[in-house]
Amino acid sequence: MASDQLPIAPITERLALLGGARWEVHFNARRRVAAGEDIIELTIGEPDVPTPVELIDVANSSMRAGRTGYASGQGEPELLKAVAAKYTRRTGREILPEQVLIFPGTQAALAMCLMSMVGEGDAVLVPDPYYATYESVVRATGADFVPVAMSASNGFCLTVEQLQEAKVPNAKVLLLNSPHNPTGSVLDRQAVSEIAAFCRANNMWILSDEVYEDLIYGKPFVSAFDMAEFAECTIATSSISKSHAAPGFRSGWAVGPAWFIERALPVAESFLFGNQPFIADMTAHALNNPDQTAATMAEKYQHRIDLLLRAFGAAPQSGLVPLRPESGMFMLVDVSATGKSGSEFAEMLLDFGVAVMPGSSFGDQAGDFIRLSLTVVDEDLQRAAERILNCAMKIQG
Ligand SMILES: Cc1ncc(COP(=O)(O)O)c(C=O)c1O
Repeated sequence: MASDQLPIAPITERLALLGGARWEVHFNARRRVAAGEDIIELTIGEPDVPTPVELIDVANSSMRAGRTGYASGQGEPELLKAVAAKYTRRTGREILPEQVLIFPGTQAALAMCLMSMVGEGDAVLVPDPYYATYESVVRATGADFVPVAMSASNGFCLTVEQLQEAKVPNAKVLLLNSPHNPTGSVLDRQAVSEIAAFCRANNMWILSDEVYEDLIYGKPFVSAFDMAEFAECTIATSSISKSHAAPGFRSGWAVGPAWFIERALPVAESFLFGNQPFIADMTAHALNNPDQTAATMAEKYQHRIDLLLRAFGAAPQSGLVPLRPESGMFMLVDVSATGKSGSEFAEMLLDFGVAVMPGSSFGDQAGDFIRLSLTVVDEDLQRAAERILNCAMKIQG
């Protein structure tokens, strides 16, 4: 039977061009590295510190103790308590286990929450630049994906004016990410409360992706969920992927009003059927005990940010203008003064032995930029900076 005679759902068309295309440079680099080329990969942001052995031991003993059966769809009771306790400490309000839903990572939490909030005919506002998977996670629901342009002039911090100017009558959700990937910007208290007030006044959810909460360099972390007046219209999502350098464990959560969690549970269960009890045990341990992983990463990344700023600062004739990140594991560099777009520059840079993400993978507003990952050792990052500068100088003749 020919494939065009079999039915295929519209979702596959909506998402068809949103998967691999954004990662083309990365995959290209991987192929060239496999063929023996010397290419320093600064594309993806895999933490370069190990997952704490203590957590691996907890997961191991838990498996050996037989915690390998089906889990509760909402999440294992001890983990629900641990997440609730984290947010009780953070918000100063009593957050209950029934306000928590466990997911295999922030990505799944965002997908299931959006699926539970919107559908065809609705719109989701997404500040641009945005994390590479946001467009597909919104479009998967059938809702419109509406980028809201942020500006490099204020370090890509979303403002309420930018939301007001967007004028999208069917907007039902703001997908807000602070600390932000790819720009590293961190919203301050005033910005968050103005943005949240706008959402509340327009009966919109704030779906808050807080995966970089523990990787901020100087500024305080602020979430609409922590402000009692916005807690009813905010869902906070996060995971141990970054905070505990454990992305492969796929362990995250959503926290919000109990009624929403109750309504979202059957949605989550129909796709996920709970998560692994031994991973739940390990995650509860991670949340209930002090841990230095995030602090170690933060120190490394700040050091590497300084390293890159020094390297680019010493060569202003290159035309490369780095944007100092306030958080996270990436740095944006404006390449427009070289006369090339971010994607043209990224493509040329492969021949100079460095793979970076073109800013356009993160939305139209980042088109002039390349994104560098800070997750390689200092020596490689230093060599990469030299190669990037060489590429820029060569372009300029
Ligand atoms: C902004 C942002 N959100 C979500 C994720 C995915 O996180 P998780 O591993 O918890 O699914 C990432 C991973 O890089 C990210 O940068």
